[in-house]
Parts: sequence; C-alpha cells; structure tokens
Amino acid sequence: MMQTDFLVIGSGVAGLTYAIKIAKAFPQKKVIIITKTTADETNTKYAQGGVAGVWDANDSFEKHIEDTLIAGDGLCNEHIVEIVVQEGPERIREIIEYGAEFDKDESGEYTLGREGGHSENRILHHKDVTGKEIERALLKELEKIPNIQFIYYCFVVDIITQHHLGYLVTKSTPDITCYGVYVLNTMNNQIEKILSPITVLATGGCGQVYRTTTNPRIATGDGIAMVYRAKGRVENMEFIQFHPTALFEPGVSPSFLITEAVRGDGGILRNKHEEAFMEQYDERKDLAPRDIVARAIDNEMKKTGTEHIYLDCRHMNLEKFIHHFPNIYEKCLSIGIDVSKQMIPVAPAAHYSCGGIKTDEWACTTILNLYACGECASTGLHGANRLASNSLLEAMVFGHRAYLNTIEKISVINEDFFFDQWKKAVNAVPDWNAIGTSEPKEMILITQSLKELQLIMSDYVGIVRNDVRLSRAMKRLDLLYDETETLYRSTKVSPQLCELRNLITVGYLIVKSAEFRKESRGLHFNTDHPYKDNLIQNIIL
Ligand code: FAD
Ligand code: SIN
Repeated sequence: MMQTDFLVIGSGVAGLTYAIKIAKAFPQKKVIIITKTTADETNTKYAQGGVAGVWDANDSFEKHIEDTLIAGDGLCNEHIVEIVVQEGPERIREIIEYGAEFDKDESGEYTLGREGGHSENRILHHKDVTGKEIERALLKELEKIPNIQFIYYCFVVDIITQHHLGYLVTKSTPDITCYGVYVLNTMNNQIEKILSPITVLATGGCGQVYRTTTNPRIATGDGIAMVYRAKGRVENMEFIQFHPTALFEPGVSPSFLITEAVRGDGGILRNKHEEAFMEQYDERKDLAPRDIVARAIDNEMKKTGTEHIYLDCRHMNLEKFIHHFPNIYEKCLSIGIDVSKQMIPVAPAAHYSCGGIKTDEWACTTILNLYACGECASTGLHGANRLASNSLLEAMVFGHRAYLNTIEKISVINEDFFFDQWKKAVNAVPDWNAIGTSEPKEMILITQSLKELQLIMSDYVGIVRNDVRLSRAMKRLDLLYDETETLYRSTKVSPQLCELRNLITVGYLIVKSAEFRKESRGLHFNTDHPYKDNLIQNIIL
C-alpha cells in the first residue's frame, strides 16, 4: 500500500497542469502521477492543429464564445464557455513560460491558424506537432519539481470509494467519497492500493471503442468507466466527434491525422470524381464545423461507393505547406504521396469524446474528493459538438481550476486537520477483493471481443445512426458484457482485460445516451429523429 497527499491519474496536458501547480503550492507534500505506459504516451502528444485562444486585436472573447456556442448546437453551458474562453489566454501564457514554443512570423508575432467553425484566426501552433511541444514543455517543467513522483506502466483498475465514510460530508456534498485507487502494477502483476485525500482523474478519451480512430492505444475510456462503476455521474456520451480527415490507410491503427489546419490554409475536399462537394452542404464549405463536414463526407462516400474521399493540396504553396506541416508532408511521402502532385486519401475517424465524467465549474465530480479534467470530463464547454482546438485549452483551464479548488478546500479546513483526519479515515479502506486467480490463458478471447466491440460501434453507432442500429448494438453489447464479466471473475486481472471491460462500459454509455436522445443534434445524427427546436437537455447516466 502507498499513501500520497495528491494523486493524479494521467500524464497528458490536464494531469500535468494540475500536478505542477499543486506540487509547487505544497512543496512539503507528495504528489504522485500515474500513467499506464510511458510519461508522454497520451492523446496530448498527438495533437496537431493547436490550441485556440484570443490573441489577435481583431479577435474578441465574444467571437470565440459565439463560435463555441454555435458549434455546440444549443447544449453548451454558457457560463463554462465564458470561463474557458476568458481564462484560456492566461493558461496558454503559463505554458509559454514553461518553455512551449509556438510558431511566429518574421516580426515575432504569433502566426494564428484557422480551423472549422472559427470566425477568426486564433489557433496557436507548433508546426503540425503542437501537442508534442506542449507535452515536452510540461514534462520539462515537472523535472524541476522534487516532490512529484511519477509511476509508469501502472494501470489504475478502479477508484476506491465509500458511501458516507468521509470526514467532510455535509448535506450539500456528495454521499460517495473517493480514497484513492486500486492499481495493477504491471511490473509484478500485483494489485496495490494507493491512498490519497485528493484524487484527480485525467485519463483522456475513449476513441479505441471504434475500429477507426485517431486516438492512441491508451485511449480506452478507463476513467469514465471507473466513475460509472463507482456510481458517479457521466453525461452526454452520445456526442462522439469524428474527425473528417484521417489518412486512409487500411489496416493501420490508430489512423494518422491530417489536421484541419490544412483546410484552414486552403486544402479542398473532393469526392471520387474530383468534385469539391462541401458547398452543397454548407456555406462555410470546407471550414464548416466538424459534425457537418464529417456527415457530408459520409454521404459522399455512400453516394459514390468509396471508402474514402480526397484532400486536395496540389494548388497550395509547397514551401509554405512543408513549413507549416512538415510531419504530414513526411508521412504522406513515406506512403508514396507527394502532396504537390497527388491528392491525399482521407476518411472520418473517431476522434474526441465531448461527454464524460460530469464536473462542475471547479472540476469537481459527483464523488467527494475526486476531480476530473481534460477529455475524460464533461464540463459543459463542448455541448453537442466541440469546436476545433478547444480541448487542449479546456484541459489547461480545468487542470488549473481543480488546483485552485484543492487549495481552497484545504485552506478552509486547516491543512494539518485535513491530512490528520484523512489518515484516520483511510484505516477503514478495504483491501482489493481478489477475484479470478487463474492465469489468462486465452488472450484471443480478449482481442476477439475487442474487435467485435469496435465493429459494432463503427457499424451501428457511427456518424449516422438510427433506432434499429442502436437497438442491435445494445443487444450485442449485452452479450459481450456477460462474456467479459465471466472472464473477469475467473482469470487474473490484466490491463488488456480491464481495458476491454472499460471499453464495453463506454460503448454501453454511448448507445444508452444515444437511445435516450430522441432528436438529431450536433454530433448525434439519428435518421429516425429529426432536429428539434425544443432541445432535450443533457443526458446524465
Ligand atoms: P491524455 O493526453 O489522453 O492523457 C491521458 C493519460 O491518462 C495518459 O497518461 C494515460 O496513460 C493515462 N491513463 C488513462 N487510463 C489510465 C489508467 N487506467 N491507468 C493509468 N493511467 C491511465 N485538441 C486540441 O485542442 N487541438 C488539437 O490540435 C488536437 N489535435 C488532436 C489530434 C489527435 C491525433 C488527437 C488524438 C487528439 C487531438 N486533440 C486536439 C484532442 C486533445 O489532444 C485531447 O483531448 C487532449 O490532449 C486530452 O488530454 P488529457 O490530458 O485529457 O488526456
Ligand atoms: C486538428 O488538428 O485537426 C485537430 C484539432 C482538434 O481536434 O481540436
């Protein structure tokens, strides 16, 4: 068993933002960060386009707020949108102070990119590898802080919770308290407890629930599934964002992203007949919000019977292209595509979860002493559809807000009392209730079920949905759930089995929420239920 003062699950932009700040604020206290593989293997590292923020004199908070609300299609929480847009530039400045470098022009001004749904150029970027640069800067800053301990290759299986055991419970606080996590130490295959008065989930997204996704292998929705199992609240899971332009490379997973910034710089989508089709769908053409572009592509592929469409960059200035998108240029060349001569084959891929663990404006979940921030959280910023490049911003803002709230919580109570009370309370935390003991002999059972799950989700719960497909998906998920629970109870726990179990839970949450939403809105498009003016509010499970 280990104990710490602050426990952070996840080493992407959200988790690192919190960890750095809290460790600096309490230099005598210990902060543990857990990550399931290496420090930088995160969705954050793969972010390409950049981070949205109001920098230019022609831009304004009002415009960024309005663009976010329009993309969100009626379901954004306006108060949260204002918070993120207004506090965002300050958080970006901090990352710059940590050493992140964003591209500048010859006069030293930041070059601001444009992406779908933005009415102004406001995307700060580092070439086409912005996330890698942000992750690098955060990890570098972290190296300077002695009271942070990183635990790698450590898989969090579940959060430890108790009903009403807390030392802080009042009538207005949640009735479930978090005491830390159970982890599977992948070095010795043992389940261990890590106890902490404060736990932060920053476990990222769940793109791996679909067959084609831009998300790396780690994106299996673990935090969302853990909170749901612990009876915390999860919301808006039907709103899965498909990125319109992932490189079409059959058999390659995850899919390589072709950033929307390429369209921002003039790239044009064309169908099999080389026709530029977007103007038939939306007056904003190739730079319409993502839900519209992804649906238009889906329709074109169905009409022309193809598995992909094209992104045409042949007319763009090659020197500029290579300067802004060196990684994409190289990747395309490596598979025989010279972007100045050939069009890039692209298709939509699951990319981002707009819903997740329900949180308030301070990143508090419905479980006491448990925060959630970053992609695993549902703050109310994105509503029914996320505006491009708003997620890195959201992760920074709520990593910071979780830190502010932690300080507030501790200062109200008195630091010594807070930690002393905690030490008494943890004695009551149970050990892991060992379940299956036999070695997992048949990995094929896990890998095959994962493939089945991904097919079900892609075929029945993709960009365009209907009631029959959703009900089929639910029936098939039920079977997968039963089989996987049986396996979970009879064999030793492994990260692969836990991830499968979490992905099935996430799949269930997506389908259930989609079934509840009897209308088409934002990213949820159901041909049996047209768009309605009297909107259905957030679906909370
Ligand atoms: P992540 O960065 O995904 O980190 C998750 C962490 O949680 C990892 O350290 C992982 O190991 C850990 N973890 C998860 N489960 C467990 C477990 N069970 N046990 C232990 N550790 C666990 N957004 C933008 O704003 N702009 C962009 O340009 C942009 N481009 C993108 C391009 C791509 C290809 C992708 C995939 C996403 C992009 N996004 C972009 C989205 C954005 O990158 C993510 O939403 C954001 O980085 C998520 O950060 P995070 O800190 O919440 O989680
Ligand atoms: C991209 O670069 O197109 C991805 C941006 C995002 O997901 O916000």
